[in-house]
Amino acid sequence: MRQIKSSSPLKGEITIPGDKSISHRSIMFGALAKGVTSVRHFLEGADCLSTIGCFRQMGIEIQKESDGRILVHGKGIRGLTAPAATLDVGNSGTTTRLISGILSAQNFTSVLSGDASLNSRPMGRIIRPLSMMGAQIKSLHGNGCAPLQIDGRMDLHGIHYDSPVASAQVKSAILLAGLYADRETSVHEPALSRNHTELMLSQFGADLHTEILKDGSAEIRISPCEELYAQDILVPGDISSAAYFIAAALLVPGSEVLIKNVGINETRAGILKVCKDMGADITYLNQNQGAGEPTADLLVRSSSLHGVCIEGTVIPTLIDEIPMIAVLAAFAKGQTIIRDAAELKVKETDRIRTVTENLKAMGADVTPTDDGMIIQGGKPLHGAEIHPYMDHRIAMAFAVAGLASEGETTILEEQCVDVSYPGFFEALHTLTV
Ligand code: S3P
Repeated sequence: MRQIKSSSPLKGEITIPGDKSISHRSIMFGALAKGVTSVRHFLEGADCLSTIGCFRQMGIEIQKESDGRILVHGKGIRGLTAPAATLDVGNSGTTTRLISGILSAQNFTSVLSGDASLNSRPMGRIIRPLSMMGAQIKSLHGNGCAPLQIDGRMDLHGIHYDSPVASAQVKSAILLAGLYADRETSVHEPALSRNHTELMLSQFGADLHTEILKDGSAEIRISPCEELYAQDILVPGDISSAAYFIAAALLVPGSEVLIKNVGINETRAGILKVCKDMGADITYLNQNQGAGEPTADLLVRSSSLHGVCIEGTVIPTLIDEIPMIAVLAAFAKGQTIIRDAAELKVKETDRIRTVTENLKAMGADVTPTDDGMIIQGGKPLHGAEIHPYMDHRIAMAFAVAGLASEGETTILEEQCVDVSYPGFFEALHTLTV
């Protein structure tokens, strides 16, 4: 458990750990590529280590160099070998769903299982489209969740899938299976979700096209692929991790923080847009296009915020940041409405419930709805005991809330932050002394 006190102004600069989504994909695509993929600024959080563990179990050599780089000795698109035991996916939905697309097309059987939270998250959303492609996937407890048994098939066929959810994990599972299909595979999603799979698979040599339709929905097509080729990857700082420092600097009066090297891909950076709409003082410095993923340093100064309405196609671009945005809204003047975000219910926890429960404990006026929440901001918050229910993003968002509240806040299960940000509390501490 970690005690957080009302903070003096945050000052200084911080470099954010590597992007979780991109780190996962660098291992997966590197494993399927021919040659050695080198990954700089890889996120060594528990989720990405689960991905490394799974690919090691399937015969891929992955090592860490003395300069911190991760080297993935890819064996080509047909180079994976049968794992001797159940693949342990830990707490990681990204590992589970993306790897399922790959495993559906192998010449062996595998079983995937994770922790209690992971094994209660819905997998029907990938089982359905992958089965349409000919995959054989069984939920071993018959409840649509992991453990999953995947009997790999060498004869997947390309489909068009109209996805009911804007989910990068669903989209990516289908596109990865599509690498192995007999013809083109396409996915339509109601709004464009994060597009790292598309950018990175293209970089590795896949033939892939995206079309944004007039209504803001998106269609992505991928052709079957003979071979992927190893790449040098520099992982940008994770905007989802930067979000906590952005919020802390905005909320604690007198703060000024430079957050270095943050990925600002527009399918991920919705929080920056929302913060600006709320009146935040954020300046972009050193903007860089990098290898397909734009980055910037963000200079954030404390600001007086006001409520906004957050809905529609922006939701997938900030879905992981909603716990932090809800805290910002509780400190902002006026009403904030978050809607079209029912996906929050199937994250590491039901985040509509865990966010509203903990905000209420701190004295906020918040009402959960079916697809989001309504927050009447501006009431002073007080310290409380925070229950993250082992959800890393709840622990970090409420640590920031504690910095800007009266009295002392206790974050239970503090170690859950290791899923995406080992060293989070120490990093926060360096800015508050
Ligand atoms: C992720 C996609 C998102 C996000 C998750 C990481 C990814 O999930 O919440 O933290 O790396 O593809 P959904 O695709 O289910 O929305």
